[in-house]
Amino acid sequence: MKGFSLKNKIIVQLSDGSFYSGEQLGEIFGISRAAIAKHIQGIQELGIDVYSVKGKGYKLEQPLELLDLEFLHSNLDTPIEVIPVIDSTNQYLLNRGDLTSGSVCVAEYQTNGRGRRGRQWVSPYGSNIYYSMYWRLEAGLQAAMGISLVIGIALTEALEELGIEGCKLKWPNDVYHNQKKLAGILVELSGQAGDAANLIIGVGVNVAMPEGVEGIDQPWTSLNEITGGQSKLRNQLVKVLTNRLHCCIEIYETQGLTPFLNKWHERDNFFNQQVKLVMGSREVYGVCKGIDATGALLLETPNGIEPFIGGEISVRPAI
Ligand code: BTN
Repeated sequence: MKGFSLKNKIIVQLSDGSFYSGEQLGEIFGISRAAIAKHIQGIQELGIDVYSVKGKGYKLEQPLELLDLEFLHSNLDTPIEVIPVIDSTNQYLLNRGDLTSGSVCVAEYQTNGRGRRGRQWVSPYGSNIYYSMYWRLEAGLQAAMGISLVIGIALTEALEELGIEGCKLKWPNDVYHNQKKLAGILVELSGQAGDAANLIIGVGVNVAMPEGVEGIDQPWTSLNEITGGQSKLRNQLVKVLTNRLHCCIEIYETQGLTPFLNKWHERDNFFNQQVKLVMGSREVYGVCKGIDATGALLLETPNGIEPFIGGEISVRPAI
């Protein structure tokens, strides 16, 4: 994005939540007040709430906890890249060819963040976590279904490690809190049958999603809502999540899903509930009975308990 580095510097300056006059900012960055006003407009277009008060200057609606490269690199062996603006962190890693397993990138803002099933992932600047990790899965494509569930479990464990209790999983890997979506996972795969699979594990977590955000078509929550905005969790979560993912994926690679079945069960948001599973044009109604060791969803239907490996569940009333 043209001229972004100056915008980024202005955001960093404003991120403490104090007032800065146009004159002050102009002096700091060596440009005119009018040029500052233009940049502020551009900053607002990134989804950041900046307001101005006559005689006082510009101020962020809420202070931002920006990604802190030094903190993220301390005591972490993983290569982790912090990018201010990118189309999609998943796409960025997909385009890189030279990655080692476990490499991570995080961004402040995604211009084209993507969700499952071709949906957009709303990604305002500096508010949430937009995270991708590359992993080479030696067991190949057939093991990828299970791993996507393991990632959801690793994310809930990382949140619990930071004191966020009550996170639940919606098959295959959405994280819910109080029946509202807190985080989503998009795993993108490439590889050939019989060979290792290349995985891009994309994780989006709502941390400080601005209240008036548009474009989200379902009830959502954020870490700020859950904690009352008390904790600065963005950088910590990136770090804890990276460690958890490494650890959980390594267990999965040697032992499969079995060690995770109980963990899933404890966090299953829909266990014993009537759900509707939509697979393309096919709809199945049944009672949710958890997952099996392949990661398939188990539904109790008039035919008994059946495994399903694709589709999306919802709690719309069963008929
Ligand atoms: C979902 O639909 O629930 C999955 C959302 C995944 C969003 C994350 S944000 C980081 C990574 N980059 C993307 O473009 N998408 C994923």
